[in-house]
Order: sequence, then structure tokens, then C-alpha cells
Amino acid sequence: MNIILIGFMGSGKSSLGKILAKKLNYSFVDSDKVIEQQMGMTITSIFELKGESYFRDLEKQFVNSISKDDNQVIAVGGGTPCFFDNMEQLKEKGLTVYLERPAGELVSRLLLSKNPRPLVLNKTKEELMQYVKETIKEREVFYKKAHHCLDRSINSGPKLTDFIRLHLTPSTE
Ligand code: S3P
Repeated sequence: MNIILIGFMGSGKSSLGKILAKKLNYSFVDSDKVIEQQMGMTITSIFELKGESYFRDLEKQFVNSISKDDNQVIAVGGGTPCFFDNMEQLKEKGLTVYLERPAGELVSRLLLSKNPRPLVLNKTKEELMQYVKETIKEREVFYKKAHHCLDRSINSGPKLTDFIRLHLTPSTE
């Protein structure tokens, strides 16, 4: 069964996902990396040259392509669950886990991150805080549909691994 990590940019989906995959002996897949390889372009270039809606279509194709019979840990982009029927699809294709983080923590992590995110490029700390707070409100409607919502008390690789091992069967709702 797939484990699908969702959450805002900077919530640690990729770093925690890699640790989790190693511990479970699953392969790790990052949707942004798959899209970059498929297009031969960075996410930033796709946004700049093709536009956001083109990128959202690529994310949709990625979601459609997930096989529910695989054993993978999949980190999807922060916006993926919030477009089309992606969240419903993701829930059918694996155990969905929302990594819930306070806005302040996301902002600090985004400011330190070396991974460029076109939606927050060149924002000041104050602008970023406002963007994160506003966008989380809209996105949590989708994120909170996940099978499990994990707050910061489960923010390390070993704790997340223990949690997932206990819950490898998705709850019905
Ligand atoms: C986005 C999140 C990014 C990436 C793109 C758009 C978003 O992924 O898909 O920049 O809409 O929140 P991460 O969540 O891995 O940073």
C-alpha cells in the first residue's frame, strides 16, 4: 500500500518521506521530481514558461498515474490535493497523511529552504507569513480530508514510522 504525504510547502514531506521509505523498505517518490524529469524543466521554469494551470494538469496526470498496488512513500506538491478531484483520488490510492505545521514554522522553513518555490519567490518574511496564513485556510479544507492528520508532536522520522506501522490500513473515514 502507498503512503501519501500531503501538506503545505515546507512541511517536511520530502525529508520525512525519505526517512519513512527507508525504514519501511518502500521506494520514495516526489511528485515534483517526477514532473521535472518528465518535462526536462524545473518547477520554476514550468510555472514561468507554461503557467500554473499547465502545472496543475501535470500534477493531475501524476495523481492518475499512481497505482494503488505499489508500496511507495509518495510526497505530493503542496497544491496537489487542492485541485480537481485529486484529494479523493489520493485517498483511494493510499494511506493519506497530512503533516500539519504552524504557519510560523512553515515560514521559517521556507526562508531557509534552498528549493525555489515559484508561488513564494521574492516574498519578504511579512508577505510570506500573510500568504501562508491565508493559503493554509483555503487548503486545509482539502488537507483535513486525509486519513490521518499529524501535528508537530510527530515530526521526526522514527515517530512517523512508528505511527504509520500502526496504521497501515486506511480508516474508513
Ligand atoms: C506548490 C508546492 C511545491 C510545488 C510547486 C507548487 C504549491 O511543492 O509543487 O511549487 O502549490 O503549494 P512542495 O510542497 O514540495 O514545496
